[in-house]
Amino acid sequence: MRIILIGPPGAGKGTQCQKLVELLRVPHLSTGEMLRTAVRAGTPEGVQAARYMSQGQLVPDSIIVGMVSRRLEAADCRKGCLLDGFPRTLPQAATLDEILERRAMSVDGVIELAVPRDELVRRMLARKREDDDPEVFAKRIASFEVQTAPLLDYYARQGKLASIDGLGTAEEIFARVKAAVTEFERGARCR
Ligand code: AP5
Ligand code: MG
Repeated sequence: MRIILIGPPGAGKGTQCQKLVELLRVPHLSTGEMLRTAVRAGTPEGVQAARYMSQGQLVPDSIIVGMVSRRLEAADCRKGCLLDGFPRTLPQAATLDEILERRAMSVDGVIELAVPRDELVRRMLARKREDDDPEVFAKRIASFEVQTAPLLDYYARQGKLASIDGLGTAEEIFARVKAAVTEFERGARCR
């Protein structure tokens, strides 16, 4: 299974992926986590990425695409993976399709976690990651609405989108996520 999780900042993508890893036994690829690791390590990519992340802006594709394609080529991704935070733009989605097509693979399903803005802000204030400053958070939400939300239509047109209510306890939401994954598995068997 190759599954993408899409949602605004604080929607619970990382939280639900951690649970899905247990269920599906495939790696969790979070571009945000990869970038934060690079920033902490002070690599040239990390130094460049930090300038964008601290402003709530997307990191350039010249950094992201290489990072993701290298990770997707690793042996542990052969059976599948969970993509959290990638793709985030229509060009990134097209690039992902190309990377997977070259390996005769495809995206099996896309889960949208829908959460209203006031709840996102509540979660952000309770967490306090480096980029959880209210002003930066507002920019991350705007970036989601302008650059990432169009992906929902892109995947809906392919019949791959499951939109899930992201309000409730993490367990309640996970029950909805599991139901969506069961549908994706059914779809994959029919293809
Ligand atoms: P990224 O790390 O992907 O951040 P994000 O999309 O802003 O999302 P978050 O990680 O904040 O939220 P989440 O949806 O994972 O929610 P979580 O489970 O943590 O990206 C960071 C930056 O990296 C971007 O701004 C950009 O600069 C760059 N970047 C990354 N990918 C890129 C790409 N492809 N292209 C270009 N740039 C890229 O939950 C949030 C909080 O809520 C947690 O505290 C959690 O415990 C809590 N919580 C979770 N579920 C619930 C619940 N049901 N009820 C109550 N609280 C909950
Ligand atoms: Mg996350």
